[in-house]
Amino acid sequence: MPSLPDRLAGIVGAPHVLTDAGTLAGYLTDWTGRWTGAADAVVRPRTTDEVAAVVTLCAAEGISLCVQGGNTGLVGGSIPPAAGDAPTRLTILLSTARMTGLDDVDVIGRSVGAQAGATLDAVDRHAAAHGLRFGVDLAARESATAGGVVATNAGGIRMIRHGNTRSQVLGIEAVLADGRILRRWSPLIKDNVGYDLPGLLTGSEGTLAVITKVLFSLVTPPEATTVAVVALDRVAAATELIAAASRRGLVVEAAEIMTEAGVDLVHAHGARRPVAQPAPFEFVFEVSGAGAVDEELLAAIEGIDGVLDAVAEPGPAQALWAARENHTEAIARSTTTPVVKLDVSVPIRALPEAFDRLHAVPGDLGVECRPILFGHVGDGNIHANYLDVPAADVHRVTEAVFAVVTDLGGSISAEHGIGRAKAAWIRLGRSDVDIDLMRTLKTALDPHGLLNPGVLFG
Ligand code: FAD
Ligand code: MLT
Ligand code: ZN
Repeated sequence: MPSLPDRLAGIVGAPHVLTDAGTLAGYLTDWTGRWTGAADAVVRPRTTDEVAAVVTLCAAEGISLCVQGGNTGLVGGSIPPAAGDAPTRLTILLSTARMTGLDDVDVIGRSVGAQAGATLDAVDRHAAAHGLRFGVDLAARESATAGGVVATNAGGIRMIRHGNTRSQVLGIEAVLADGRILRRWSPLIKDNVGYDLPGLLTGSEGTLAVITKVLFSLVTPPEATTVAVVALDRVAAATELIAAASRRGLVVEAAEIMTEAGVDLVHAHGARRPVAQPAPFEFVFEVSGAGAVDEELLAAIEGIDGVLDAVAEPGPAQALWAARENHTEAIARSTTTPVVKLDVSVPIRALPEAFDRLHAVPGDLGVECRPILFGHVGDGNIHANYLDVPAADVHRVTEAVFAVVTDLGGSISAEHGIGRAKAAWIRLGRSDVDIDLMRTLKTALDPHGLLNPGVLFG
């Protein structure tokens, strides 16, 4: 019997089966550096048929399979279990890096098909060449893939305008755990025949199927936008400004908040500060609309208590976006231990209390670490990052954050998913019946638990 690498090479070609320890290492640690897994091989198929053949081999031999796109996920879902945690079976990592094809844009139907490994940036540039845009955008756009954003149901900075990734998925092609190919590929906007399987696979974090191709709906960009950075002395001013701008007929394209500590971290790495003085909060607000957008925006800003300063310019205004765009990387560079990165949401009215209580977590616990909070404030989504957390305190910090969030009626995972990082806490977010039903679906679609073991359910 040929070895596993030889059999995989028979499917994808020998250059696309990687087994050298040094090469594997590049695939086996996640973006945050917190999670390192183990695999017997990395396989890089090019086509859906090759993926189906790989998965069929895994099903026949009981081999675990972890799917990886751009490896920018932040909850440890894109790497296999660590050697000690792995089930005692062979494990392969399937990388979609070679599956980068894009179909022609359907300009009238406003949609495009993208292979799973196409980056967000590539999908967006392809759409932009036809006067359209991809509705999901995030700072990892040059690495994050179509398959990855769908598998995590990513949110991002345009979610307030266009909804989450699930809202952009018209159709899907995926290889099931037994090797069959599901192709729900219809550009129809209205199509209610049975269960929403593309919707189910969206957000399934590689646990139900390998997504090979996605049919995305595209959005029409505004003719012009105005971007403001507004210095604030309180969180509530941001949500009041969003409401005021909407009442004036402005369309909110993005609404992102940062704290002084986070902005300082970015500036330590060279970015220019757009507002004159440091402020407790900086709010990046992008709007569009008909008529005098700048004047309407300034009028909205003037009516808000808690505004300390504001600068505005026509979009894309990359300089005004720079501190927000560089936040995640600045945080990753500024911590001595892997960042404890908790992505939570609370009801909008609870945001000010949530910021206060999440800032207080280190002091409350007596743990020496630094909180940096930022996020998609218009969606009630706070990225609660704790830097320099001693390894022994990671669990306590996580528990304390989730206690605050649960108390405020929020979610322990706003947009990054559950992955490995939050699997132990899934019960905080879902009822027993809900989890039973999810497990039933998992068992029905992947009866031998081969797809992404350890992700979602632990
Ligand atoms: P990976 O990291 O490779 O994988 C993520 C998960 O999806 C894993 O569970 C993996 O198994 C699964 N998966 C990947 N491809 C497939 C496939 N083809 N089939 C089945 N399962 C698959 N997220 C947000 O929601 N909003 C943000 O604003 C945001 N900003 C970010 C900014 C930065 C700088 C970084 C580093 C990350 C950010 N993220 C954000 C995290 C986000 O989850 C990822 O960027 C993206 O969604 C993951 O895409 P990926 O291709 O890197 O997937
Ligand atoms: C973001 O909004 O920038 C991300 O979700 C990444 C992060 O949480 O750091
Ligand atoms: Zn985010």
